[in-house]
Amino acid sequence: MSAHGPARPLSAHAAGPLTGQADVPGDKSISHRSLILGALAVGETRVTGLLEGQDVLDTAAAMRAFGAEVTRHGPGAWSVHGVGVGGFAEPDQVIDCGNSGTGVRLVMGAMATTPITATFTGDASLRGRPMGRITDPIAQFGAAAHGRKGGRLPMTIVGAAQPVPVRYVTPMPSAQVKSAVLLAGLNAPGQTTVIEAEATRDHSERMLAGFGAEIVTETTTEGRVITLTGRPELRPQTIAVPRDPSSAAFPVCAALIVPGSDVLVPNIGLNPTRAGLFETLREMGADLTYENERLEGGEPVADLRARFSPDMAGVEVPPDRAPSMIDEYPILSVVAANASGATRMLGVKELRVKESDRIDAMARGLEACGVRVEETEDTMTVHGLGAGQVPGGATCAARLDHRIAMSFLCLGMATRKPVTVDDAGPIATSFPIFETLMCGLGARFAEG
Ligand code: S3P
Repeated sequence: MSAHGPARPLSAHAAGPLTGQADVPGDKSISHRSLILGALAVGETRVTGLLEGQDVLDTAAAMRAFGAEVTRHGPGAWSVHGVGVGGFAEPDQVIDCGNSGTGVRLVMGAMATTPITATFTGDASLRGRPMGRITDPIAQFGAAAHGRKGGRLPMTIVGAAQPVPVRYVTPMPSAQVKSAVLLAGLNAPGQTTVIEAEATRDHSERMLAGFGAEIVTETTTEGRVITLTGRPELRPQTIAVPRDPSSAAFPVCAALIVPGSDVLVPNIGLNPTRAGLFETLREMGADLTYENERLEGGEPVADLRARFSPDMAGVEVPPDRAPSMIDEYPILSVVAANASGATRMLGVKELRVKESDRIDAMARGLEACGVRVEETEDTMTVHGLGAGQVPGGATCAARLDHRIAMSFLCLGMATRKPVTVDDAGPIATSFPIFETLMCGLGARFAEG
C-alpha cells in the first residue's frame, strides 16, 4: 500500500521513569523471508509471531498475487500454501510493496528466474530508492528490467525463460542483495554463488537450509562465500519468528536516556549479524545486561535489561560493525546526543539509501534540537551534550521513515522541551504497537 493517509504529527514529552516489560513484535527480516520461502515450498508452512506491520502485509499480498495461498489465523499466526520453486504465476496486477525495500528486492529476486512478467511500485520513499543493485545481478541470470531513470520504481521485471546460475560478488554490504541473488538462484540449474566481503544478516541462508535447500557458507580471504544448489524441492516448515532486535532498540535506548528507567525487553535474538548496537551501547557505558541467555532454534537469545545510564560517553563505532547495526544508527545517534563527548560512526554511507537519507534526516533533526552533528558522505559524528542536556523543542521531519520517526520520539522523552515528528504514520510499517507499548512503559505522547 503506497499511502498511509494524511500526515499525523506526534509530540513526545519528557517522560517519568520508563519501567516494566516491553514485548516487541516479530522480526521484520525473518517475517518477510517466512512468507517468501513459504510461497516457494510445496505444501503448507505455518508461521507464528509474524510481524503484522505494513511492510510484511505488503509482502503477504505480493505472495498471493504470485499464486500462493496466504491466510491469517489469528494474531501473528499465519499459513502459506506454497507453489514450489519455479511455480510462481504471473500477477495480473501491479505489485505495490509500499515502503519496503526488503519486500520489493527479495520478491524481485524470487521471481527473476521464472518466465513471468511483473511490475513493481511503492510509496514515494521506495520509488526514490536504487534498484540497480538488484537488476544488475538478476540480469546475469537472464532477467530483464525496465524501470525509470536511475533504476527506480515503477519497474517491470521479465523473468528469465532459461536461467543460468551466477557467481556474484556483492558490491556493497547488503543482505537484501545477497538474498535476492540466492532467491533467484533457487530456480537456476546448477550452483549459484554469492560472495560478500563483510558479513551481513544471514537469515536467508539459515532459513533456506531449514527449508531443505543445499546451501554452504565458507569463510575465505574474499569474505563469505555462499553456494546454493538450484532447483531444490523446498519442504514446508513450522516457523516461530523471534522478536526483532531492531525494534527492541527503541525501548532499550529510551530506557538508557530517561532518568530512573528500568525496562526488560524479553526474548531478543542476539545473532551476531544483528547485535552490533548492543555491543556499542555497552562500550559507551550503558547499563544494559543480558539475562537468561539461551539458544532458541539455533539462535542466541536473551532478555535485555536496560536501566537509566547517566554516565555514557561517546565512542568510535568501527566501519566493520556497520552491517550488524545498519538500522540502528538513527537511535544510536539519539543515545549519543545524551552521552558526553563525540560519537563517531564510520563506514555508514549505506544509510543514505535507506527509507530516507538517514544521515541527513538525523543530522537536521538533531541540530534543530540543539545538538551539533558533523557528516561526510560516509561518516556521522554526534557531539553529545550529556544526560538530560538536549534542549529539544523542535519539529523533526520523519521523511516517510519509521526509524527516523521513532528515534525522534525517543529523543523527546529525555529533552527539556518536547520533540515533535511531523508524521508518525510510517511507524506502522515495522512497529505498529510502538505508541501503546512505549506509553505502557511511561512515555507521554500528544497528537499534533
Ligand atoms: C534487511 C537488510 C538491510 C536492512 C533492512 C532489512 C533484510 O538492508 O537495512 O532493514 O531484511 O535483508 P540492506 O541489505 O540494504 O543493508
